[in-house]
Amino acid sequence: MSDRSLLPGWAHRRVAGREQWASRIGFVMAAVGSAVGLGNLWRFPYEAATNGGAAFLVVNVVAVALIGLPAMLAEFVVGRRAQRNVVDAFREGGRAWATAGVLAAVTAFWIVSYYSVVGGWVVRYLFASPTGAYFAAPSSYFEAAAVGFDAVGYAAVFLVVTVVIVAMGIERGIELATKVMVPAILLLMVGLAAFAATLPGSGAGYAYFLEPDFGYIVDNAATLIPAAVGEVLFTLSLGAGIMITYASYVDETENLVADGAAIVVVNTLVGYLAGLIVFPLLFAQGVEPGSAGPGAIFVSIANAFRTLPAGELFGVVFYFVVLVAALSSAISLLEIPTAYFVDTTDVERPVVAAALGVGAFALAVPSALDQSLFGFFDSVASQVLLPTGLFLVTVFVGWVYGREAVAELGEGDGGTLSRAWHWYLRTVVFAAVGMTLLLSLASFAGVELL
Ligand code: TRP
Repeated sequence: MSDRSLLPGWAHRRVAGREQWASRIGFVMAAVGSAVGLGNLWRFPYEAATNGGAAFLVVNVVAVALIGLPAMLAEFVVGRRAQRNVVDAFREGGRAWATAGVLAAVTAFWIVSYYSVVGGWVVRYLFASPTGAYFAAPSSYFEAAAVGFDAVGYAAVFLVVTVVIVAMGIERGIELATKVMVPAILLLMVGLAAFAATLPGSGAGYAYFLEPDFGYIVDNAATLIPAAVGEVLFTLSLGAGIMITYASYVDETENLVADGAAIVVVNTLVGYLAGLIVFPLLFAQGVEPGSAGPGAIFVSIANAFRTLPAGELFGVVFYFVVLVAALSSAISLLEIPTAYFVDTTDVERPVVAAALGVGAFALAVPSALDQSLFGFFDSVASQVLLPTGLFLVTVFVGWVYGREAVAELGEGDGGTLSRAWHWYLRTVVFAAVGMTLLLSLASFAGVELL
C-alpha cells in the first residue's frame, strides 16, 4: 500500500534478525494449535449439552462470526503492526498501556501453570491406556491421578516437552511441531467420530447433541448469550496476548482476514467433531454425561472405554489426541512471556524458555496438590484476567490505534473490509466484550447480575 509509508508502521518497526514464520500455513497451524485444546474437546460439547444442545450450537456459530473473528483480527492487528512482543506492542499507546501488555503476559504465564496440571493428567492416562489401568475403578483412579505428588510429577513431564518446543524457536520449534500436530489431531478425530458412529446406541448421543430446541434460545437468552460469548473467547485463545504474539511473526503481505477466518472455521469444526465423538460414545455405553469440569473427560470417558471392544486401543488414540491438543495450546501460552524476554534481553531463547518453565512449574504445584486451588487458578483466569485482557485489546485497537488499525488490517486484503470492521469493533464487539467482562467479574465476585 502506498499510503503506508506515511505511517510509522510495519517496515520501520521490523527488528533485524527477529524471527518470522516460514510460511503462511505455518502461522495458521500454530494459531489453530493454540485455539484447539481442552476447550474444544471437552468444555465445548459439555457447554452445548447443558445449554440446550443444538440451540447452543446456533448461538455459538453466530457468536464466533460476530464476536470471535472480529476480536481475533484486533489482536492480529496489534501484533503484526508492532512486530514485537505483547508488552512492547501495547507500549505503542504510551507507558500506561504497557501495563495491559504485562497483564496479558502474566495471564498466559498464569494459565500455563494449571493447564500443565491437566496436561500431566493426560500424559498419565496415555501411559495407562495400553493396559487399561483405569478401567477397574475410573473414579478412584482419577482422584488418585488428579491430586498429589504424582500429579506434580506428570505436570513436570508435560512442561518439559512444552519448554523444549518453545526453546527451539518459532520456525523450527512451534511452526514445525504444530504443522504435524494439527493435521494429526484432525485425522484422528475424524477416525474416532467414524468409529463412534458404528456403536450400537450412538443415536441417543446425536440426539442429545444435535436436536434443536429454538424455544430454548428465546427463553434463556440472558444466560445463554454470555455463556456462548465467553466460550468463544476462551476457545479462540483471546485475551492473553497469544494472537498478538503469533501475529508479530507475520509479515505485511499476508491477508489477516483470510487467515483469521480459516483459524476460526477449523477451531469451530473441531469443537463439533468433539461432540460427535463424546456423546455417541457416552450414550452407546449408557454413561450419563458427568458433571462439568476437568475431571469429567477422564472419568466418564474411561467408563465408556472399558466396555468397548479394544477399549485400550481407543484409549491410546483418544488420549494421544487430547495430549497433542493440550501441548499445542501450552506452547502458545509459554511463548508469550518468552517472546517478551527474548525481545528485550540478551538472554538466549532456550534459557528464557527453561527459566519460565521452572517458574510455571513452581506455580503449578499448588494446583496439583489441591483441587480448590486448581479451581481458584482457573476462575481467576477465565473470569477476571482473560475478559479484562480482551476488553483492553478492543479499546486499544478501537480508540488508541484508531485509523492506523484500519490501515494495518487493510494490508494484504486491499482494505475492502477494514473500515467496516473498525466501526463494528468500536460498537458491537466493544459492547459484547464489555458485557462479558461485567458478567464475568460479577460471577467471580459471587454477585448475580442476570
Ligand atoms: N484455546 C485453548 C482451548 O480451547 C485454551 C487456551 C490456550 C487459551 N491458550 C489460551 C485460552 C489463551 C485463553 C487464552 O483449550
